[in-house]
Amino acid sequence: MLSSDNSNQERQSLHGNWSSRLAFIMAVTGSAVGLGNIWKFPYMAGQNGGGAFVLVYLLFVFLIGMPVMMSEILIGRRGRRNPVATMALLGEEEGGSKHWKWLGALGVITAMLILSYYSVIAGWTLTYIPKAISGQFTGADAALIADLFDDFVGNPTAVISAHTFFMFLNFFVISRGVKGLEVAVKFLMPALLFLLFVLLYYSVTSGSFSEGVSFMFTPNFAALSWDGVLTAMGLACFTLSIGMGAIMAYGAYLPQETSITNAAVSVVVADTGIAVLSGLVIFPLVFANGLNPGEGPDLVFKTLPLVFGQMQAGVFLATIFFVLLAFAALTSALGLMEPAVAWMVESTNYNRKASSAIIASLIWFFGLGTALSDNLLSEFKFFQGTIYENVDFITSNIMLPMSAVFITIFAAWVMSKNSSSEELDGHGFVYKIWQLLARYFAPIAILVIFLQAIGWI
Ligand code: PHE
Repeated sequence: MLSSDNSNQERQSLHGNWSSRLAFIMAVTGSAVGLGNIWKFPYMAGQNGGGAFVLVYLLFVFLIGMPVMMSEILIGRRGRRNPVATMALLGEEEGGSKHWKWLGALGVITAMLILSYYSVIAGWTLTYIPKAISGQFTGADAALIADLFDDFVGNPTAVISAHTFFMFLNFFVISRGVKGLEVAVKFLMPALLFLLFVLLYYSVTSGSFSEGVSFMFTPNFAALSWDGVLTAMGLACFTLSIGMGAIMAYGAYLPQETSITNAAVSVVVADTGIAVLSGLVIFPLVFANGLNPGEGPDLVFKTLPLVFGQMQAGVFLATIFFVLLAFAALTSALGLMEPAVAWMVESTNYNRKASSAIIASLIWFFGLGTALSDNLLSEFKFFQGTIYENVDFITSNIMLPMSAVFITIFAAWVMSKNSSSEELDGHGFVYKIWQLLARYFAPIAILVIFLQAIGWI
């Protein structure tokens, strides 16, 4: 039984605690580092003109992402339940209202919608493993690599099968509980990082490195629209896994004595570092091969295989790379599914296995829209474009930032200073900064950018 008293010191999570601070950091990093860093960041930076977008993205990561992440962890740890129950409980306890549970619910739904397309892209990654093993990249030029990709995404059966397989993997792991995964994250994340450095070496020595770097870091604000600014903000939330209760769900298992600030800093730095690193690998290759940086979601799949094809031991390295990327996608996907599964286990009669199966099937079904966006339904466009573009826009650019606003409002305005300072240990400098950013800067900045982008300001 969960006790419903006011003291969080005695409140325990139903699902147990992380074994250490490092385990928590590993799990949150596992959730944060994924396709967002390696697939989404480069393609979006490329589509939005490079430098200015990257700069704005970095600012958002630190000025909005960081305080929101701290708020989410502190709310999660204080409530120690799934995001919906935590928001209901703390809403009442902190003198607000139990209707705050709708904020938790919004997050759960957002995460499921994100996973619906995330799983399709993870499926792309999975199919690149056999392509790598069978040496299909070896010696291939840009045109051949592009054909390889286009042929694949143009085939609905292939894309849906890969999506199905990935959702099944998710179901398989999550129905057993995510414990044990932390060990894998501990080894596989550093391995991914190492491979990125190997690729970086390659792109420094044989790509158009200075052109790539200058594309990424020379801000040209004329190339950045308000829509681009909104996209950068959505991307900051997305890569950090904030604004949907995933971090809240993980915070519920965080031991009381762990410093939330330190944990948040480690995760934010690691996550952003990997995104920037992957941009540094990809853009020089784009320019060296005369490709278009604004290519879109295909960018990574049309650049990296080129390098592997030219490298010694390229077959081996490409195989490991796509395995690691698929693994990184899996650990993120689990973070997207955990809030919904935790909610269902705690609030219905279904056990973990049944809950996981039901949720995975629902997500799989929604994912078909994205899976068909490059083939059968590629001409079916409305609002922002294809089904994928709409799901991505609505989740990343509207739902995530909106939840982020309410999360900071809850943590910094509704929760008593006593509660928040107890979780963030103390009234020191760091607490003051957090308060300033979470109370004023983050919610106001998000709202202004949002209103600008939809043309109301
Ligand atoms: N942050 C993950 C990525 O960059 C995606 C994600 C979002 C995972 C939200 C969990 C929750 O790929």
